[in-house]
Amino acid sequence: MREKIGDDAQERYWDSISDEYHDITRIDCSDFHYGPQIPGESALHILPEFSTGMTALEIGCGGAQNSVWLAKRGVRCTAFDISRKQLAHAKAIASHQGVMIDLRIGSFADFRLKTLASQFDFVHSSHAIEFVENPRDAVAEMAASVKKGGWLMISTVHPVYNGDWMAVADEHDDVERDGQFIVDYFNPPDDIRDEGSEHVVSRAYPVSAWFKWLREAGLEVTALEEPAAIADAPYSSDDWAAHGGQLDVIPSTVIFVAKK
Ligand SMILES: C[S@@+](CC[C@H](N)C(=O)[O-])C[C@H]1O[C@@H](n2cnc3c(N)ncnc32)[C@H](O)[C@@H]1O
Repeated sequence: MREKIGDDAQERYWDSISDEYHDITRIDCSDFHYGPQIPGESALHILPEFSTGMTALEIGCGGAQNSVWLAKRGVRCTAFDISRKQLAHAKAIASHQGVMIDLRIGSFADFRLKTLASQFDFVHSSHAIEFVENPRDAVAEMAASVKKGGWLMISTVHPVYNGDWMAVADEHDDVERDGQFIVDYFNPPDDIRDEGSEHVVSRAYPVSAWFKWLREAGLEVTALEEPAAIADAPYSSDDWAAHGGQLDVIPSTVIFVAKK
């Protein structure tokens, strides 16, 4: 049985690591980022055109750099995070970048999201949905907040990243290489993140499960990306860079864009 991590524990964990997260992570507001070490929107071109007056909702925004990028294009942005400390960083970043974002405390499971249902041209979340108890409900909740004709973007941990590296030898030669041992693609094991007495669990799911949840929520998937690492990523950190060649041969992030 999987451990349940409530919203209070999530908030305490993210509050406790927030300052360090922003110290060690470099996120460039001049691109829309999808995850660590991978190309941003300037390379992938998978989002709709944005114009002044459009509306966007970000969930699990952290420093809200993606909302800043949208706000610079004239989009009216609302951004939620479960952590007050993360929102304080978002407020400072938005102010430094000279844009206004409506920053709100709240979780994927929060009733306040429901009160905003069907108001947004674009709903997005980068690497936050892996921390929720029920991603299928979270996808449905996000989809309910998208206007008819609007768009949703979710990026999350790729299920093949949730494995162990091992040395492998080909039966025809004895040259050893690094290979990936996938424990269980269909039910990937929990990735437990500890910080002092607090911890959260990051969970991966098969790519087909996300596809199904998006379709069930009434959306049509228009892009599915599993990018390899690049040198000049809009989101980078020394910790992620230390994964070196691993991220050239397996994807760490899967990205979905879908239309309502
Ligand atoms: C890995 S960070 C990513 C932050 C940001 N999206 C980015 O790409 O830099 C995950 C974020 O999700 C937030 N978070 C975790 N669980 C959440 C939940 N249940 N509801 C809303 N936000 C959550 C955390 O506070 C944290 O800011």
